[in-house]
Amino acid sequence: MIQKYRFGTPIETEAAVLDITSIPVERSADGILSAPDIVNDEACLLTLASVSLDKGFSLTLTLDDRDAVYGLGEANRGINKRGHLYISHCNDDPNHTEEKVSLYGAHNFIMVIGAKCFGLFFDYPSDICFDIGYTRQDTLTVRADGTELYVYLITGDGALDIVRQFRWLIGRSYIPPLWAFGYIQSRWGYKNENDIRRVAAGYRSNHLPLDSISMDIDYMEDYKDFTVDQERFPDLSALSAEMKEQGLHFIPIIDAGVKIEPGYDVYEEGVKNNYFCKRADGTDFVAGVWPGKTHFPDMLNTKARRWFGNYYKRLIDQGIEGFWNDMNEPAIFYSEEGLAEAFRRMEELREQKENPDLNAFGAMCDAFCISNLQEDYERFYHNMDGKKIRHDKVHNLYGYNMTRAASESFDEICPDRRLLLFSRSSYIGMHRYGGIWTGDNHSWWSHLLLNVKMMPSLSMCGFLYSGADLGGFGSNTTRDLLLRWLAFGIFTPLMRNHSALGTREQECYQFEGLEDFRNILRLRYRLIPYLYSEYMKAALNDELLFTPLAFVWPQDAVARETEDQLLLGEGLMLTPVCQQNATGRHVYLPEDMLFLLFTSSEEYTVTPMSAGHHYISCGLAEVPVFLRPGHLLPLAPSCECTAQLDYSSFEVLGEAGKGLTYSMYTDDGYTKHPERDGRWITITK
Ligand code: GLC
Repeated sequence: MIQKYRFGTPIETEAAVLDITSIPVERSADGILSAPDIVNDEACLLTLASVSLDKGFSLTLTLDDRDAVYGLGEANRGINKRGHLYISHCNDDPNHTEEKVSLYGAHNFIMVIGAKCFGLFFDYPSDICFDIGYTRQDTLTVRADGTELYVYLITGDGALDIVRQFRWLIGRSYIPPLWAFGYIQSRWGYKNENDIRRVAAGYRSNHLPLDSISMDIDYMEDYKDFTVDQERFPDLSALSAEMKEQGLHFIPIIDAGVKIEPGYDVYEEGVKNNYFCKRADGTDFVAGVWPGKTHFPDMLNTKARRWFGNYYKRLIDQGIEGFWNDMNEPAIFYSEEGLAEAFRRMEELREQKENPDLNAFGAMCDAFCISNLQEDYERFYHNMDGKKIRHDKVHNLYGYNMTRAASESFDEICPDRRLLLFSRSSYIGMHRYGGIWTGDNHSWWSHLLLNVKMMPSLSMCGFLYSGADLGGFGSNTTRDLLLRWLAFGIFTPLMRNHSALGTREQECYQFEGLEDFRNILRLRYRLIPYLYSEYMKAALNDELLFTPLAFVWPQDAVARETEDQLLLGEGLMLTPVCQQNATGRHVYLPEDMLFLLFTSSEEYTVTPMSAGHHYISCGLAEVPVFLRPGHLLPLAPSCECTAQLDYSSFEVLGEAGKGLTYSMYTDDGYTKHPERDGRWITITK
C-alpha cells in the first residue's frame, strides 16, 4: 500500500507518476501534527515516526537492532546504510572517500527492513539529510530545512514487494538501445579524429570486442555545447559513418554550462529568450566551467528545456545515437561574485605575503576554495513556468531536467528509435529518461567494491542503466585492477572504461597479456542476451536487476550481511574479486548452487557446491559466478560487437534433464514498444 502525505505546498518535481490522492498533514496552533484523512492509525506515518515541522522538517524513528536500512541509490558506503550520514545534494566531488556524504545523485528512497518493514520516499528537491544511526546508533532521522514536501509511505510484504510498489509509483525505467549493452571505451583526452581511429584500431586489430567510443569535451570547439571543432574533427558525419562500418558508435558529452561568446548561437538565443538562470536582479547568472564563463540554461522551465533539447538534433543529424550529460549538478568552478570575493580576501592578506603565519597561510589556501559553493547556489533563480524559485530550493532537479530535455527532444527527433542517454547528476524521476554513470571515481580497489555495493541501491531507485568508470577515472590504474573491474563490469548494463586526462592510459590494449582482456570482453558479449532479457524483465515489471542477498534470504543471518555478492537477474549470483593480489575469495552460498568459473570466454568449469562457506580460487583473468538451482544461463556465441550478436544458437548452462527453461527477450534493439515488438523465446535444456 502506498500513502502520500503532503506537508504544505510542495514543489511538483514529477518524480512520481502514479496519481495518488495526497493526505494533507495539518498543524494545530500548539504545533501538533495530524492527518485527519487517515482512519486507520496503524498505518499512519505520524504514528510510525515522530514528525516535526518546528525547525524545518524532521522525521525520527527508533531502529531496532534487527532493522537494516536500504536505498538511497547513488550514495556512499554499503548496501545497508545504517551507521552513517548521507545528504542528498547533487555534488561535483571527484574524491569519494569514505567520509563523503554527498555524491552526484539525490535518490531519497529508503526502506527499513527487519523488525519493521516499510519504505519512505521524500519528494523534496533541496538538500535533505539521512542520519541513519550516525548521531545515535538506534535512531533514524531525516531532516530538511524546508517544510514543504511529499512523503510517501510504502508498506508491503518484504523488501522486494516494497521496491516493486515504489518503482510502480515512479514509473518505468529508461530502456537504452541494445548496442548500449556493448563495451564502451572512453577517455578524457581523445583530441582529434586520429586519436579516435587509433582507439578503434587498437580494439579491432587486437580482436578486443567494442561497440562504442565516448567522446569527451575535447571534440567541441572551445568546449561549446553542440559544436564540433572543425580542425580536429573536420567531418564528424564521415567519421561516424566510417566508425559505423566497423560496428562502432560515438557517444559525445554535453555539458550544462553554455559558453558566453557573442556570435555563438546557443548563447545568443538563450540570452534573447531569457532561457538562462538569472540573478535576483534579473541579469543572467555567470558560472565558470570548462569553457570559462558560462550561463546555465533554465532546465526547470518548459520552454527553455525544449529549446535546449532541440540542439541535440545537430549531432544526431551527424550520425550520433547516444549522449552523456555532464557537469549538471550543476558544477560551478567559480562564480563572478565568488571570484571577486576570493581576490578581495587575498588583498586583505597582502601584508602577510612575505612571512605568513599559519592562520594567514590557511586563509590564503582557503581563499580560492570557491567551487560549488552554497552561496553560489543561492545566487540564481529559475523561472518554473512563471514561478521564480531560488536555485538552492530545487538544486537536485537540475541534472534530472537536463536529461529530460534531451530525452523529450529525442522523442520528437527519433520517435521510433531508442537513443542512448546517461547523466552524471540525477534525481528520482530521471530514471525514466536516461541512465547514470557514477561520476569521477578513482583507480582504487575500494572504488571497485563501492561500485559493487551501489548497484543494488541504484536498482531500487529505478536507475537500471548504470555503471561506474571501469578501471577508475582519477589516479593511475593497474592491469590487475582493470581486469578485476572489467570482470565485474561485464555484468553492469553500462560497461564503460573511462579515465581522466593526465592519468595512465587504460584502454585494454595498453597492457600486456591481451588474451586476458579479450576473454573477459568476449564473455560480456556472450552474456548480453541474458543481461538484455533480465534488464527488460526488471524494467517492464518494476523489479530489481541487482538484488542484495538479504532481500531473497531475509531469514539467513549471513546472507543478510553479505554485501560483496549480488544476485543479477533471476538466476545468477555474482562473486567478484575486489582485493589486490587475491587469487580467490570467500563466498557464502545461502543454498546449493552451481559454481561456474569462466577460465576464458569459451571455457568454464562447473562445480556443484553445497550451501555454506567456501573459498574459491579465481585467477586474474577468470570470472566466478554461481547459478541458482532451477535456473539456466544462456550464452550466445562470442563476437566483437552487438551487430554481430547471433541469436540462432545458445550454449545453455545449468542442470540438464530437469525440464528447466529460460525466458529470453529479443527485439530489433531499438523499438520503443518492447511489449508490442519484442519477442520472448523459451530456451530449454
Ligand atoms: C567531469 C566528468 C568526467 C569527464 C570530465 C571532462 O569530471 O565527470 O567524466 O571526463 O568532466 O569532461
